[in-house]
Amino acid sequence: MIGVPGERGPYHAGMSTFYVTTPIYYVNDRPHIGHCYTTCVADVAARFARLMGLETYFLTGTDEHADKVIAKAVENRLTEQQWVDQCAGEFVRAFALLGFSQDVFYRTSDPQHKALAQRYIKKLLDQGDVYLGDYVGWYDPSQDEYLTETLAKEHHYVSPVTGKSLEKRTEKNYFFRLSKYQDALAAHIAGHEEFILPLARRNEVLGRLKDGLQDVPVSRALKAGESTWGVLMPGDPSHRVYVWIEALCNYLTAVDTAGKRHLWPAAVHLMAKDILWFHAVIWPAMLMALGQGQPKTVYAHAYWVREGRKMSKSLGNFVDIDVIQQYVGAFGADALRYYLITQGPQGVSDADFSHGRFIETYNAELANGIGNATSRVGNMIDKYFGGRVPEHGGVGVLAGLEQFDWPVLTATAVRSAIAKFGEMDLAGATNEGIALVRKVDAYINATEPFKIAKKLEAEPGLKDRLGAILYHCAEALRVATLLLTPAMPVKMGQLQRTWNCVPAGGVTLSQLADWHGPHALVPGQGLTKGEVLFMRADPGAAWPPVAG
Ligand code: MSP
Repeated sequence: MIGVPGERGPYHAGMSTFYVTTPIYYVNDRPHIGHCYTTCVADVAARFARLMGLETYFLTGTDEHADKVIAKAVENRLTEQQWVDQCAGEFVRAFALLGFSQDVFYRTSDPQHKALAQRYIKKLLDQGDVYLGDYVGWYDPSQDEYLTETLAKEHHYVSPVTGKSLEKRTEKNYFFRLSKYQDALAAHIAGHEEFILPLARRNEVLGRLKDGLQDVPVSRALKAGESTWGVLMPGDPSHRVYVWIEALCNYLTAVDTAGKRHLWPAAVHLMAKDILWFHAVIWPAMLMALGQGQPKTVYAHAYWVREGRKMSKSLGNFVDIDVIQQYVGAFGADALRYYLITQGPQGVSDADFSHGRFIETYNAELANGIGNATSRVGNMIDKYFGGRVPEHGGVGVLAGLEQFDWPVLTATAVRSAIAKFGEMDLAGATNEGIALVRKVDAYINATEPFKIAKKLEAEPGLKDRLGAILYHCAEALRVATLLLTPAMPVKMGQLQRTWNCVPAGGVTLSQLADWHGPHALVPGQGLTKGEVLFMRADPGAAWPPVAG
């Protein structure tokens, strides 16, 4: 919860477009759970936004101009383009495996990006926001990044990431006049509580801003014979635009076309805490210099760690694409998506990817939760009502159950899910769906429809009450599936098909969920019981599964 007045996130009533982005990932690494997580959060946000009736644009992609790319291409005897095509393909495959619905997989080697990024830098040069100066700094070759003197000293002049020595370098460089935007940035952040989320991160950025901003280098001189892979400095082909500066431009270059310009400013840039500074300070200052609007929210989540330990190359413990594939193979993409969303590091604390926790969540909330509830209700409707939705019952049929005011309970859950989506609490929004399932379970425990069914022969008059109870269960579960669809589109789609309640296109979540509205289950319509949605998992089973 955010707990401050004002807007609490990127979504607000009255908005019509929703542009959501992930970082564009370095192509050199194989896709892993970290990349998939941010993209999963973006996917769930995009699916919610579409359900809200917003014109949604979801961008993810790859950052293909890092120096390491050149080295890797040489090592693999490929051209840079061949190398990045191959690597980007891995990300596309990983994202397809998890059913992500990006509208564009954007790559910085795209000519549109390169041309527009150059145009932006040229504008900055022309207006004096980018200038040629001398740069002396500590360069981390492994990260393709300069460290400030303070930071370099703090890390004893070795890379904080790889531990390799930093190099002191003096270069003629182009600089971006970041210092000029210090006050404007501080004012923007202070005036927009939803600009940097979570709030603790916003306070960190504000704290760092108080130390003052220095101009940042935006180019690097090319050595003789060096590959010109990347974006060259406009008017000075002896310099290459520093990859970070160029990469940040992607969010704008992707939509700076006649048909898409109206999508800017973005609703939300998503990322982890590692690259918040670039997104919350450098990019917004560049946007100010370019005369462009600011993204509504920059949201930085925390990290996934694995079984309590940081994931790193040296430990070789990444939940990488192969592990992801094992989970998808054994439990389905939706189960992994659900785990990522509800147990992931949204907010400021890191989250542990633990197999035990995965199984626990899967069994409790999916197999024994939504899976079991829908199967019980579907089976009873099949058995006692011939697979037809029963009547919801006239006055008095549900006497004694007034505390379960389903129209109110479902409407409250939907409102609350929308509010949580609005502040990018996608775990919270998804949990509203699961909480509704739990209420249905409680209702079944309170009403005991199985027992009523047993008495039917002796007391046929009870059939109306049984039907009404099952109608309420089924309708509440239908609303729950709507709230769970962004996280689990495949399984919820499967259930909606067997229950004959596939949401109509172009209708918003609130309309679809309206208990008394035209999308509610209709008595008499077919409702088949369908296949088991989530098979219970054996917590004692060997993992990873043994091949063959
Ligand atoms: N190319 C830059 C981003 C440029 S955006 C204009 C980059 N790429 S990256 O491949 O290193 O991706 C970093 C991002 O990957 C993080 O911000 C986060 O979105 C995701 N994650 C990488 N490791 C992660 C975890 N262990 N946990 C959660 N997310 C992580 O930086």
